Amino acid sequence: MKSTKRESWTSKLGFILAAAGSAVGLGNIWRFPYITGENGGAIFLLIYLVAVILIGYPVLLTEMSLGRKSHKNPVGAFKAIARDNTPWWLVGALGVFTGFTILSYYSVIAGWSMAYIVKAANGFIAEADFAGVFVEHISGVGEPLLWHGVFMAITVGIISAGVVKGIQKAVKVLMPILFLLLVVLVFRSVTLSGAGAGLVYYLAPDFSQITAQTLNDAIAQAFFTLSLGMGAMITYGSYLSDDDNIADSAGYVLGFDVLIAILAGLAIFPAVFALGLSPDAGPGLTFITLPAVFAEMPLGALFGFLFFVLLTIAAVTSSISLLEVVVAYMVDEHQWERKKAAQIIGIVVFVVGIPPLLGYSALSDIQFLGMDILDTYDWFANSIFLPVGGLLTAIFAGYVWRTDDILDEINQGNSVLKIGVWFKIMIKYIIPPAIAVIMFVSIWQTFV
Ligand code: PHE
Repeated sequence: MKSTKRESWTSKLGFILAAAGSAVGLGNIWRFPYITGENGGAIFLLIYLVAVILIGYPVLLTEMSLGRKSHKNPVGAFKAIARDNTPWWLVGALGVFTGFTILSYYSVIAGWSMAYIVKAANGFIAEADFAGVFVEHISGVGEPLLWHGVFMAITVGIISAGVVKGIQKAVKVLMPILFLLLVVLVFRSVTLSGAGAGLVYYLAPDFSQITAQTLNDAIAQAFFTLSLGMGAMITYGSYLSDDDNIADSAGYVLGFDVLIAILAGLAIFPAVFALGLSPDAGPGLTFITLPAVFAEMPLGALFGFLFFVLLTIAAVTSSISLLEVVVAYMVDEHQWERKKAAQIIGIVVFVVGIPPLLGYSALSDIQFLGMDILDTYDWFANSIFLPVGGLLTAIFAGYVWRTDDILDEINQGNSVLKIGVWFKIMIKYIIPPAIAVIMFVSIWQTFV
């Protein structure tokens, strides 16, 4: 059963940083602010925080332990732990499919970020019409395609190099720099004149705004931002050794991830209001608002350049975890060679990412429920696949793998704060019905 060549993280910090690198990405800086803006601001922030702690943390613990216990990719992990020949491995397979889907459009957006590095270097921060610049960029074909390809090539390159040399090395330096730069941005944003309205919008919840969709969007965002519901944390957990501390590691990952999202919101909303923009502008929000903030700063062009470099890096440390899920599956279950797997899957992902990329130009007529193709990919992945994956993972943990055994696994190597009965209650009785009901109502409302 034991595969001989499987790598392990070479240090505790290595794992935490890799998992945090997976968690922190476009989801925090690009997706979180615009979803918050579409869902009424502060009330969404509040529900999102509740979802991250009550649903995200237990599922994060579960996924990491599933990985460490089995030392397998998501399909192999469910197979190894499910008794008999039950079809639980399908949950892992759904995860592999979801990772593939997310990566295809994630790379398109990361490509926008890369293009913005070049734009910043060429002095576009001095321009006034940032919305115009954004629309012009995404409705082009050549440039977005080029950067989508470059981004996938980088992702494939790192994954080909393997877990330790590739992933672990890349994240160590870059995460702290991103954090510092965000702090500078927040400072500039909240000191703009007129920023107060943005702070109120972002921090003073209006409870009348809650709908089933708000709740579902919050759960979806909690899964997306923590890289849950599709096996990324199972896969990263599979490279853990027995004396690693899962409870602590998960806590650090969650804390850092939430902090970055909150800072991103603090950088964006005060500026949105100070500059007279609209918080519900959708996916372009970050790309339109932040350049406007840079324009208001001394050395703005330099900061803008640095910011998009770091955003791209944050995207890379996430995209590698998406690709790793699919690659680990092909390597473990179908004996593909790692490099070959990374390359072939990378090419297919690139191709699958072309329709969402063209959704702002050649394919702009194609709509689903009023959404363009990229939003449609994002909707299926986040509103359906991730919550379903998370729901089934919780049911599996609570009723198939049995919570006592998981608790043994979680608490192995964990000496200080033992995870206990609250975990059982959440994973068995609260999380599954909560996700199921909220998802059902929200989807029903979407279609009816
Ligand atoms: N967590 C990443 C982000 O917030 C996205 C991601 C989702 C990565 C699922 C891996 C798996 O950008």
